[in-house]
Amino acid sequence: MDSMDINKGLAAVLVAGIVFFVTGLIGMNLVTEKRLEKPAIAIQGAPAAEAAAGAPKPEALPPIAPLLAKADVATGEATVKKLCTSCHTFNEGGKAGVGPNLYNVVGGPHGHMEGFSYSAGMKAKTGPWTFDALNEWLHKPSAYVPGTRMAFAGISNDQQRADVIAYLRSLSPNPVPLPSP
Ligand code: HEC
Repeated sequence: MDSMDINKGLAAVLVAGIVFFVTGLIGMNLVTEKRLEKPAIAIQGAPAAEAAAGAPKPEALPPIAPLLAKADVATGEATVKKLCTSCHTFNEGGKAGVGPNLYNVVGGPHGHMEGFSYSAGMKAKTGPWTFDALNEWLHKPSAYVPGTRMAFAGISNDQQRADVIAYLRSLSPNPVPLPSP
């Protein structure tokens, strides 16, 4: 091995070092490190993820059709007498109380009673009161219509809710056909 080979070897090491140093500098300039405010990946069940998620998501309700198929109108009426008649009337042409009259509400538009002063949230709802819409509404009114004037927590029991909806459906000269389960 002569001195030329040693020089070449040293030069190679030197060049490698310079390249390493320069790419490092370039890299640092290209990529600026920034701390994220929230973790980019939320880990299910981790406390931080729950805090970041904020408001709880609406729960998925079981389909209403099979529940309506075995719903009992009389049970629904009894539940309505307990939970709803403090605010609502259900007879044809009945007056509004705290809430609107509910005769023939199924299949009617959201905010179906002429002249009743509905909340802005209810007025913003479009489309008819379907069985699914009523199911969601009666499960948790404040989730279905944010800012609703109906001060009622909701009916959490799925069959009880279906019974009530079946009763509401019966309050019509022309009840909307039941969905096929
Ligand atoms: C504390 C009074 C109160 C109770 C109890 C109550 N409601 Fe209501 N309800 C209201 C008010 C007020 C509105 C109007 C909501 C709005 O404008 O946001 C309403 C609206 C409704 C609507 C929509 C009517 C429409 O014309 O679109 C339905 C359906 C309804 N209630 C069903 C029920 C049922 C069924 C119960 C019992 C399980 C019940 N409510 C219990 C006060 C009440």
